Amino acid sequence: MNGIEITVDAVGSKGDGLARLADGSRLAIPFGLPGETFRAPKAASSGTFERLSTSPERIEPICAHFGTCGGCIVQHWSSDAVRNWKQERVTMALSRAGVEAKVAPTLDAHGAGRRRVTLHIRQREGGTCAGFMRAGSHDLIDLDRCPLLVPELDPAPDLARGIGHILRGISKPMDLQVTASAEGLDCDLRGCGPLPEPLRKKLIEFAVARNLARLTLHGERLVEARSPRVIFEDRPEMLAFLPAGSFLQPTARGEALLARLAREALGKTKHVVELFCGLGPFGLRLAREMKVTAYDSDAGAIEAFNRSIRAHPGGKPATAEARDLFRRPLFAPELKPFDAVLLDPPRQGAEAQVKELAKSKISLVVYISCDPETFARDAKTLTSAGFRLGTVTPVDQFRHAGHVELVASFRR
Ligand SMILES: C[S@@+](CC[C@H](N)C(=O)[O-])C[C@H]1O[C@@H](n2cnc3c(N)ncnc32)[C@H](O)[C@@H]1O
Repeated sequence: MNGIEITVDAVGSKGDGLARLADGSRLAIPFGLPGETFRAPKAASSGTFERLSTSPERIEPICAHFGTCGGCIVQHWSSDAVRNWKQERVTMALSRAGVEAKVAPTLDAHGAGRRRVTLHIRQREGGTCAGFMRAGSHDLIDLDRCPLLVPELDPAPDLARGIGHILRGISKPMDLQVTASAEGLDCDLRGCGPLPEPLRKKLIEFAVARNLARLTLHGERLVEARSPRVIFEDRPEMLAFLPAGSFLQPTARGEALLARLAREALGKTKHVVELFCGLGPFGLRLAREMKVTAYDSDAGAIEAFNRSIRAHPGGKPATAEARDLFRRPLFAPELKPFDAVLLDPPRQGAEAQVKELAKSKISLVVYISCDPETFARDAKTLTSAGFRLGTVTPVDQFRHAGHVELVASFRR
């Protein structure tokens, strides 16, 4: 019999099964699951793998495009196993950074689905296509629908093709970001560059005919029939204005869950400073009960945050201000008025800001992170400065993908 038999013993961060070879090196087996045995070619570094046994955790993918589409990596693995894998990844990241912590089981936060999607638009000989890229390629899968999205986003691929068709004379690759808002679909088109007046007019007519809430070009408003807002799943009476192109938590369930965990961790806090606040999903909720001072570098998000605060009178005083916290973190003396910090930085983490927190007199830091590695690095800085890290709770808004978020609190 040609080839060698190998057994997968782990799944890597990109979703591949990992097996150890006789020389100790690691081999990645696409979509292999722990416990499964494969026959690999003798060279073992390339070629196809024949699956000889099947894990009881293997399940039928929910989408016909799984395996070719670059969007999902673990649709073939049971959800319990995926949640355990994400918990393990958080544990391993902390252990590599030398931080001791208890990591709770991962909480599922998919809810009704993702409320925002970015579709690539490309012109082909047969017409305009819209969808996601094939895994590891620049080839586009022309998509009918994506089962991970909220049902309100079902028309998104068709909308993207419609816009692409209007702009078919433009050969540039374009992207359409579509968000399901309370006022209808909010679309932001990128990559088209400045458009001549006749094409702008056609796009406006298209947006009106399709009853879009708003259509922006690189964040510049082309037509706004209604000002888009997102509803808080846990507080349906509260809505937040949605700036074009700003960050939005992928699922309404995830946003509500992160907000609840942050609220619980803040306990009796009276005045919180919220860093990397975005359009304010956490600060707006918190301002019902405590004073909030918030910062983010995105001026559009800050404007929306302040507008939403004005739309929800009757809470505690809340203000939001634009500031680049990488270049100009809140310095230790500036942190004196606050009794707690809530931060939710981008993937890079908050290295400069956390160094200032370490130097300050702040005794409670609640950290929401979307990257276990940079979180672990920042956690090391805080624990080295005398903070004790409480239980870390992983939160999964990215069902079938590799990302994981988490909430943790540090006290001293
Ligand atoms: C993970 S998002 C969280 C936003 C918000 N907390 C939310 O849940 O919608 C990270 C935020 O960091 C902001 N950001 C990125 N780089 C920044 C910087 N250098 N200074 C301040 N804010 C920054 C982004 O604008 C974004 O709003």
